[in-house]
Amino acid sequence: MIVRPATPADLPAILAIHNHAVRHLDAIWTETEETLDERRAWLQTRLAEGFPVLVAEAGGRVIGHASYGPYRPKPGYRKTVEHSVYLAPDAQRSGAGRALMQALIADARDKGFHLIIAVIEAKNIGSIRFHEHLGFTLAGTLPQAGFKQGRWLDQVHMYLLLDAAPPPPAGY
Ligand SMILES: CC(C)(COP(=O)(O)OP(=O)(O)OC[C@H]1O[C@@H](n2cnc3c(N)ncnc32)[C@H](O)[C@@H]1OP(=O)(O)O)[C@@H](O)C(=O)NCCC(=O)NCCS
Repeated sequence: MIVRPATPADLPAILAIHNHAVRHLDAIWTETEETLDERRAWLQTRLAEGFPVLVAEAGGRVIGHASYGPYRPKPGYRKTVEHSVYLAPDAQRSGAGRALMQALIADARDKGFHLIIAVIEAKNIGSIRFHEHLGFTLAGTLPQAGFKQGRWLDQVHMYLLLDAAPPPPAGY
């Protein structure tokens, strides 16, 4: 298994993993599947903004993807990123998620980001355990922060401080 930057050729596999999660999981808070063009636009935007999109590949097949991007748009959040990581259902618990996240965290450190945030649906205990395993700390739970398929969903935030840098100076 290798982890490498995504290319446009990976988009159908990335889309299939994403839309499976839309259909079957509460991890993505929409009931609307994406099109290939929408995923292509997402990849282009991420790369144009300097954010990574990584894939895990095993036996010539893309089995997972991970990325991070802005947390919130105001300038004061420029040192903070929010990530996502998704594995194909038959590839889970194989270490691919850990490999993707280790590469993603290294990338965020290299680029000078300070805080990386996981936003997790509260019943997704597997993801919470996974992030604990990676060194993330539980920040708290927002009750009924969103909804899907007629149910309120609670939202857990977990975080990993990436460095011990002082805050950027005034006017930064
Ligand atoms: C969550 C996810 C990304 C984890 O990736 P993964 O490749 O399955 O996990 P790994 O094999 O790298 O696991 C690393 C460690 O995390 C922990 N872990 C992972 N999944 C776990 C689970 N379901 N239950 C408990 N612990 C878990 C374990 O400590 C594991 O180490 P171990 O296997 O040696 O015990 C993956 O299962 C996934 O895509 N799930 C569905 C989508 C999703 O929930 N994405 C995250 C949205 S916030």
